[in-house]
Formats: sequence, C-alpha cells, structure tokens
Amino acid sequence: MSEQRQQLRHHLEACRASTLQLTASLTPAEYDQQAHPDFSPVGWHLGHIALTESRWILQHLAGADCPLAAYHQLFAADGLPKAARQHLPDLPQVLELLQAVRQRVWGYLGIAPLDQQLRLWLWLLQHECQHAETISLVLALHRHPVGNGEFKIQNSEFKVSTPLPVSCPAAPAAPVYLPPTTVTLGYDGVEGLDNERPVHRVKVKGFWLDPYPVTQGEFRGFMAAGGYAHSDYWSPQGWAWQQRAQVSRPRYWCDQPAREDHPVCGVSYYEAEAYATFVGKRLPTEVEWERAAGWSAVGDQLGPYPWGQALPQIHQANLGGQVGQTTPVHHYPAGQTDLGIRDLIGNVWEWTASWFEPYPGFQSFPYGGYSAAYFDRQHRVLRGGSWATRPWALRSTLRNWYHPYVREIFAGFRCAQDADGSLPTLRERR
Ligand code: AVJ
Ligand code: FE
Repeated sequence: MSEQRQQLRHHLEACRASTLQLTASLTPAEYDQQAHPDFSPVGWHLGHIALTESRWILQHLAGADCPLAAYHQLFAADGLPKAARQHLPDLPQVLELLQAVRQRVWGYLGIAPLDQQLRLWLWLLQHECQHAETISLVLALHRHPVGNGEFKIQNSEFKVSTPLPVSCPAAPAAPVYLPPTTVTLGYDGVEGLDNERPVHRVKVKGFWLDPYPVTQGEFRGFMAAGGYAHSDYWSPQGWAWQQRAQVSRPRYWCDQPAREDHPVCGVSYYEAEAYATFVGKRLPTEVEWERAAGWSAVGDQLGPYPWGQALPQIHQANLGGQVGQTTPVHHYPAGQTDLGIRDLIGNVWEWTASWFEPYPGFQSFPYGGYSAAYFDRQHRVLRGGSWATRPWALRSTLRNWYHPYVREIFAGFRCAQDADGSLPTLRERR
C-alpha cells in the first residue's frame, strides 16, 4: 500500500476505535432512547455513520451495491423524524453493520484512485468525528442531571502519556488587543469542508479579545446578579427564548470549587450574548475569532492551528475525548497564540456573533444539504472545537453551526470589545 493509503487507513481506524470506545459502557436506554427531542439516540448515530460510509465510498466511489440498503430509511438523515429513530436493531447488529461496510471499504481502498478522491475520504473521516461528538453530548445529557453534576466521557486514540500540568501560570486576565490587519479567511487544503471555501481576503479592524473563554467563576457573577431574570441584558429574541426556556444555569454546570476555572459549558447563543452585555462587552465575529486563532499580532499566517501545521498534541489542547470533560482555561499554555490567547482549540466551542453564511463563490460538497441547507440566517457560527472534538475535524478555520437556542452542545464563549470601546446596542444587532 502507498504511504498515503496507509495513513488514511490509520486515521480511519483510529477514529473508529474511538467511536467504538463510546459504545463500551452503554446502558440499553442510552443506546436507543432520545436524551433530548433535538437529538437522535446514540444507536442511530452509529447506524448513520455506517450508512454514510457505505453511500459515499461503496456506492458513490466504488460503484458497488449498498450492503445497508434495508436500513436506508432508518439511518438516512432525511429518513425519519428524530422521535421515530428509537426502534433500532440492537447494538451487536449495528456494530456488525459498521464492520461489514468497513471490510468492503478496506477492499476498495487498496485499488481506489486516491489522488482524485482524497477530499471525499477526508470528508467522511470528519463526518464520523462530528457524529461521535454528538454521541458524546447525547451521553452527557443522559448522564448529567439537569443543571448540576459531573461526568467523564473518555474516548481517545491518544494515550494520555503526559499528565496534565498540575499548575501552570494563569492566563493574563486582561483582554488582548489585536491590531488591524487583512487576513485570508477560510481553508483550501484537501480536508477543508465546503463552507471553509473559497479562501478570500478580509480586512479586520483592531479589537480586544478575552485571552480565555468565560469561566464558571466569572459566569457566577451574572447568575448572582439575577442575569437570567433581567430582560435588560438580553436581545429581544434572546429574552423571548428565555421566557419559554426558563433556564437558570448552563446545561453542564458543576457546582464545585475545582470547577471555577473551567469554561462555562452548555449555553445557548442567547445566554452568551446576555452575559457579554452584562459585562459591557460583545461576542466576537467569526472573522475576528479566526484572525485571533490563525494570524499573529502583526498579521502573519500561523497555520491551521495557533502553533502551526501539526495536528494537535495532547499537551496543546483539550480535545479528542482524551480528558472526557472540560479543563481549566489556563491548562494549555503550549497551545496559546503569540499574544497569549488560550484555549482557542478544544475545551469548549465558542459562539460567535456571526450567522452561518456562504463565503463568496461557495460550492457545495459533497451534497447540497451538508452546509447550504443551513445558510438560512437561523444558525450562528461556533468556532474552536470542544473537549469532545477529534483532531481530524478541527482547525482554526473550521466552522460549526447551530440554532441560537441550542445549549446541549459543548459550547461556551469568550468576549470581545471594539478598539474604541463602543458597543452595538441590542437593537442594532441582527
Ligand atoms: C456541523 C455538527 C452541525 O452534526 O448536525 C453531520 C454535521 N452534517 N452529518 C451535524 C453533519 C451531516 C452537523 N454539524
Ligand atoms: Fe451525518
């Protein structure tokens, strides 16, 4: 096998090993019950991973029959409503489906013209990563009592060989100034997703950015001040949501002193926006976020990661499920930017102020429904990945998107300010 083939096989295998680890300690209810109406059961995600691999590699590339034809309606994303996805073949059967597809995929990989196909293979790898993160959050919903508690959902191809540093210098608390510059937004490497393309130049004004995501300790100030009950801090849409949702703390809140320096995890866009208003700040745009993560102070491109080209190592970021939960925001000095901005990669996704919209010249890949279906001004962009995001599906240019009311994902946020300190009013924001 060529080196390229071997590498691809190695990554697909490592990714799959992590996915299977997630199934190791499943209870029957965790396997086939919905933890929340917006999310499918774990078992469905496993079947969907198998079906997607079969459709795109075996059918589309190899021109073969789909060994999962009988499961098409059940496991296709547009097959059944989420609530109807609870009647599933049992776990051993679904694991067999995954294996049956994989066996044929290995057969094809030996003869596939990879040079022409690599983009689709790498899309598929990232697709499994994305569903694995959803599996992790569904498990967290099952295992984490609403509003307060602890869980650990470890699954990782990495061995945690280096222990996390016991103590490390706290991040500079003060916001960091990022001088004005012009950046190339997006990513055109072969693994780049359709919504990261095409790369294009964008001017970014000078602005201030917090050097780490908002922590539980900081967010407690908002809660103690009655932030969840005061409409003043909320946008009209946010307040309308809160009156229905009536939430009073982040979904993955954990009331323990050791957690004070952990980022807030499990907030909607609306909660993030309300907190930023409360402290007299705002959320960064996705352009500002990418400028901070991918470009030096003077405007030199850093690479796909704040440290350059190489895939994240375990001492640089909390990701890949290796820790199984959040870590203190100052835990990874090795992953910081030249300006000392930390935790951009991993730990928690960060809500940005931006709607999910196509870059100029956007072209769908591999199908219209992957990104284009969500360019509807109903989804906000999140950046940076979480502790559960696998390294193959994460880089500084990567865009995630959810409805602004979703708080079951591993999402936090950091705050920004204009260079002159002025803020958009809640009315001006759209
Ligand atoms: C980009 C994470 C919002 O999981 O809904 C998976 C990715 N698209 N299969 C999702 C996706 C099709 C998507 N997110
Ligand atoms: Fe999918």
